[in-house]
Amino acid sequence: MKISHNKKTKKILAHLDKKQIGYLKYSFPRDASTLNSKPRNIIIDYVYVNKKFRRSGIASKLISEIIQIAKKQGLVWITLWTGRQSELEESFRLYEKAGFKQKAIQGDYYDKNIATRLFAKRLDNDYN
Ligand SMILES: CC(C)(COP(=O)(O)OP(=O)(O)OC[C@H]1O[C@@H](n2cnc3c(N)ncnc32)[C@H](O)[C@@H]1OP(=O)(O)O)[C@@H](O)C(=O)NCCC(=O)NCCS
Repeated sequence: MKISHNKKTKKILAHLDKKQIGYLKYSFPRDASTLNSKPRNIIIDYVYVNKKFRRSGIASKLISEIIQIAKKQGLVWITLWTGRQSELEESFRLYEKAGFKQKAIQGDYYDKNIATRLFAKRLDNDYN
């Protein structure tokens, strides 16, 4: 399995032979603090691994790659809001294993069984 980085599309890609088997899409927040300077934080927009290749550490590799890239750029926080389905809950361990901490939970207004969670990891030291 090979990992590559496309800076233009802001995607980290996982390949097996020539087939793409997973990707991580990221972006930079555009808030008031970044208007006149370089971004200080990075957001994981989505992580996806082809069904046939799940539970073999591919998403973990994609996440550790984006963490390394962000650290090299001197960024401070890496954050993500999860999808809303409750069946995703078990997979959230993926982020905890990579050192992310759950910082917030936002319930759905109409369906109390679904919620989206904010996970964050501090990159500039071991304090999270
Ligand atoms: C979530 C997803 C990206 C995980 O990809 P993956 O390559 O299978 O993840 P990894 O093999 O690196 O898993 C790392 C850890 O996460 C946890 N995990 C991942 N998927 C899990 C699942 N379905 N059930 C329980 N735990 C899970 C486990 O702790 C796992 O470690 P382990 O296998 O040693 O127990 C993949 O299932 C996927 O693409 N799902 C659809 C898209 C999606 O839900 N994206 C995330 C939106 S928040």
